[in-house]
Parts: sequence; C-alpha cells; structure tokens
Amino acid sequence: MYYIGVDLGTSAVKLLLMEGSGKIVNIVSKEYPLSFPKPGWSEQAPQDWWEQVKAGIKDLVSGVDASQVAGISFGGQMHGLVILDENDDVIRPAILWNDGRTTEECDYLNNTIGKDKLSAYTANISFTGFTAPKILWVKKNEPDNFAKIKKIMLPKDYIAYKLSGVHCTDVSDASGMLLFDVKNRTWSKEMCEICDVKEEQLAKVFESYETVGTLLPDVAAQLGLPESCKVVAGAGDNAAAAVGTGTVGDGACNISLGTSGTVFIASKNFGVDENNALHSFDHADGSYHLMGCMLSAASCNKWWMEEILKTEDFAGEQKGIEKLGENHVFFLPYLMGERSPHNDPNARGTFIGMTMDSSREDMTQAVLEGVAFALRDSLEVARSLGIDIKKTKICGGGAKSPLWKKMIANIMNLDVEVIESEEGPALGGAMLAAVANGEYDSVEAAAAAIVKVVDTVHPEAELVEKYEAKYQQFKAIYPALKPVYAQIV
Ligand code: XUL
Repeated sequence: MYYIGVDLGTSAVKLLLMEGSGKIVNIVSKEYPLSFPKPGWSEQAPQDWWEQVKAGIKDLVSGVDASQVAGISFGGQMHGLVILDENDDVIRPAILWNDGRTTEECDYLNNTIGKDKLSAYTANISFTGFTAPKILWVKKNEPDNFAKIKKIMLPKDYIAYKLSGVHCTDVSDASGMLLFDVKNRTWSKEMCEICDVKEEQLAKVFESYETVGTLLPDVAAQLGLPESCKVVAGAGDNAAAAVGTGTVGDGACNISLGTSGTVFIASKNFGVDENNALHSFDHADGSYHLMGCMLSAASCNKWWMEEILKTEDFAGEQKGIEKLGENHVFFLPYLMGERSPHNDPNARGTFIGMTMDSSREDMTQAVLEGVAFALRDSLEVARSLGIDIKKTKICGGGAKSPLWKKMIANIMNLDVEVIESEEGPALGGAMLAAVANGEYDSVEAAAAAIVKVVDTVHPEAELVEKYEAKYQQFKAIYPALKPVYAQIV
C-alpha cells in the first residue's frame, strides 16, 4: 500500500509518497504565491493551495499503481485563518501564521481579558499569528466578511475538506487557534464566547492519526485515486515534522529550520511554562509538546542570499566561513517581527557590529548564527523549566547546510542527530496515514520502525565556550533595541 503526506508550507506544498514499510517512493514540490499586502501582513489564497495539491498528487503518483494509495494525511502551516461562506466559497485570502496585523486584538486578549484567563482556558496566551485574534480583527475591520462566516478552518483542514467533504481538524493544529482547551483536547466554550465564535462554525476535532473520511467520488476520479483512500486528520507542520523525525517520547527534541524556526519538545504530560513564552500544544502521537517558534529562520538566509546578495548559490556563499565563534557582526533575525520568546511584532531584522574590515562572509555568517542564537532563546526557556535536553533531531530546508548544523550544535550545546530524510512534515503526514490504516499500532511504533539517524554532529568544547560568550552579547542587543523598534514601525 502507498501513503501520501502533504506538507502544506508557506512557499510551496511538498508531497511525499511512501510505501507502508516507510520507503520513500517519490517527492514532488509545487510553489504558490505569498503576498504581503502591507508591512507585517502575510496572506495566501486557499484556492492556490488546492490547485497545487491536486497538480502535485497527479505528478506524485504518475509512475505507480495509484489504486494502491490507501491514505493521505498532512502537516500544515499552522494558525492561518481560512473562512468559508454558506456556499463553501473562501470569503477572503487566508491570514497566515507570520502575519502581524493583530497587535490591538492581542492587547485586548492578553491585557483586557487577561493572560491568566487565556492560559487557564487554552494553556496559551495570544500572539499576533494565532487564529483567535485574527477572527477579532475580521470582526472589527471587515464586518461584512465576519457576518458571512459559516466555517472556520486551518490551512491543511481546507485541503482535507476539499478532499473528503468533512469539516475536520486535529488536536495539534487546533491547539494554535487559541480557541482550544489543549489540556482536555476540546474547544474552549469561554474562548468561543470571547471571540464571538459559535461552536458549529468550528471543525470536528480528531487525533492526528484518526481517519476523518474517504475521498469524495468526483475528487477521487479527478486525481486517479481510489474512492476508498482514507483522508486522515494529520497535524500542524511542527507536530507532523516531529513525527517524521521520530520526535516522540518524553523530552525528545526537534529543531526545524524552515521558513519559521522551531524548537519542539515532546512531553508525555501536559505542562505550561509560567510566562507562556513557549506554546503548550497537543502532540500528534496523543501526548503534548512545548514549542518555541521564531517567525523567520531559513527565510532570513533566503532573503539575504536572493534579495540582497542576488545569488542562488547558498552553499558557495558558506564556503569561505571558517572562523566560528569569532564573528563580531551580529544579525537579529526578526524580519517578520518575533514570536518566541519576545512576542514583539515590532521587532525588525538588524545587522550590528560591522567595522571597515567586515566582509560578505561575516555578514552571511551573522545571518546563520543569528537564527541559531534566536532558537537558543527558546531552548533556554525550556532549560529554565528544568527540562534537560542533550540532543535534538533537525529538519527543514536549512538542515541541508552542514555549516548551519555545526553552528546549531555548538551554539545550543546539543548533539544534532541527522536523519535519513529531512522531509519532516511530509514524511510525518504519510506516517500518520499509515498508522490510521493499521500498518503500525501507534505513532511511536511507526517512528521506531521508519526513522533512522544516519549521523550526529557533536558540539566541540572550545567552540561551545566561544559561542557562549557570543550568545551573551547577542542576548543584550534585543532589549536595548526594543524601544527603538517600537518607534520605527
Ligand atoms: C508554529 C508556526 C510556524 C508555522 C510554519 O507555531 O507558526 O512554525 O506552522 O508553517
């Protein structure tokens, strides 16, 4: 049997075809546009996702016996607000996870309703990218659109809906809406009231490895897949990536270097960090996780390479970087504002520390290091909670760079385990579909059978010490600039 994993990302959808044994048969990627209609805003058309998913599936299965595709599941960009009217038409472009327009709504939720109440209802506080403040934004700024809302859904759930006709979501992705009681894995009545949302507008909630339905007959015919193909709930991209990298079991850690950067820590038990600096969400394996999310990670390097240096030779630009731990140029990677741990939509990308001898390589090095330092900020919050993390898996586009992995290992003082396939969310999605079809007894069993560590990057004592001093310098920059950022918006 074959299983399809759909990673509905921010710049492209990646589709992966896996045999029940875990063998990857094919991978296809299809891009779609991302628009920034105003500074700090970020939108996409759900219809583009659907068109590219359909085109991608057709390409993906073109060389195999498609009648053997038994399941399809997802890892999806989280938090995006997709709203449909009574005819199931998309009302407005989706407002994405890295959109910063909801400062006022977050202030209202965090300060007028109060962080204590939000945390008690949902285990989290409000961040601009979360879904609930976006609903309040639509209510205030686009009342006509708000009045039309029949269904509220997350990005990957729109695809599941188009495939199966079932308005569904899963616990891990629902966790990022700020409408969900993470501890009890159910919608929060209090939050629905606060956000003027009726429960019937929200999706039916599933565990990530549960089947929500099968393909609609006309969709199956269009795609050349069997009608019996199961549509499985799937997960937010970080939880799906965790499945795809085998990050299951208490204290297991995964770092994702994608458009966003995340530090994901699996946890058997429910827990909330006192300041809610880390998100407390449900995991795709039936348990929980803590997560820090930075809004621009590999995207900082992409911006620096493509928009500024005007090159596509990422590896070539990294070749001349040799003096690790000695760079006096720093980069603050806040090109879309920052979520964890600063929660500051006004923060901006910043180079600091250049002198007349600073080189192109120093600047590139600073970009890569800045992302690793910012990820460490989240790791430090976890460490302050007494969570002892010694090693991590790694995935995402940035994980292709040996230099970046070395920086992560030494800046964070972690063993970085490199796995056979860094296709985190797409592989995780396919694995969830295989679990739902009974190929494995549990997500944990699937991870144990499928995910293989092929290399480990160890931290080196001398570099760790040098980078420790650099991290302390990095840490001092944001607080000094915070008031400046607030003035230059
Ligand atoms: C997680 C988050 C991002 C997106 C990226 O909270 O906002 O990692 O899921 O797709």
